[in-house]
Amino acid sequence: MASRHFITLLDLSKNELNALITRAIELKAIQYAGTHYEPFKNKVLAMVFEKSSTRTRVSFETAMAQCGGSAIFLSPRDTQLGRGEPIEDMARVLSSMVDCVMLRTFEHEKLERFAQFSKVPVINALTDFCHPCQLLADIQTYVEHRGSIQGKKVAWIGDGNNMCHSYILAARQFDFSLAIATPAEYRPNAHITASAKGYVSVSTDPVQAITDADLVSTDVWASMGQEEEQKKRVQVFEPYQVNAQMMFLAKPDALFMHCLPAHRGEEVSADVIDGNQSVVWTQAENRLHSQKALLEFLLTKK
Ligand code: CP
Ligand code: NVA
Repeated sequence: MASRHFITLLDLSKNELNALITRAIELKAIQYAGTHYEPFKNKVLAMVFEKSSTRTRVSFETAMAQCGGSAIFLSPRDTQLGRGEPIEDMARVLSSMVDCVMLRTFEHEKLERFAQFSKVPVINALTDFCHPCQLLADIQTYVEHRGSIQGKKVAWIGDGNNMCHSYILAARQFDFSLAIATPAEYRPNAHITASAKGYVSVSTDPVQAITDADLVSTDVWASMGQEEEQKKRVQVFEPYQVNAQMMFLAKPDALFMHCLPAHRGEEVSADVIDGNQSVVWTQAENRLHSQKALLEFLLTKK
């Protein structure tokens, strides 16, 4: 049977995704109770990072270790990938040895090509196009604090980037309405927006997007690989900062999320990210629990 992959949120059905969130909450309780649970004994995860990472690397590596398995960190700097070995060849070789491969790449298409040639499950650990693992943690965090996200209003304020694309797919899969506000030239991909018709609205107006929102989420204005645009972006994005004045327009019990790393004073003010509506630390921790649930699904479900 062909391996299941997790390249975008559309690779799992709505039922599978909801079950995965429930399981993530259970696995968190198992961890907190100090119970040993080792379903990944003798399993090995390869982790290929073309870009930097703190949360993704540590959460995947810890998930494997706590569940009895192990993980191998690989970067282009010290593998043959950096010297031009084709991604298809790397996929054939790695997947003949390990049980699962996680990749963080620039081009999304590179990850898709890897998956095409892999005999084992492949996980998207962020591409320029999307970051589905982060959304598992975000939804888990919302559910833990407020219950189901179905029918809620989520505001995405800032760049129409990989995180924004993942929120668009999440709106379809978890059935919430998403109001996106970005500068005109930084809108999300039009095809992906069109695919979520009825779930998503896109405008340049952050006030309209955030008004009455149940959840407010943002991200850096310049993503990895866009560092040279930072100066220009800071000017264009200035009206899109999530600050206390903006949060005041959301529902009084609205939550604030950020995938991190954050730039205080740019996309979010310090009083919001460090304030009492912010759940960013739980959100970061939940990367561990939700990815355990994902690995369990991919490695042990028949
Ligand atoms: N949110 C996230 O993916 O963080 P890292 O880049 O540190 O992995
Ligand atoms: N949009 C950010 C997310 C980092 C987790 C980036 O791609 O750099």
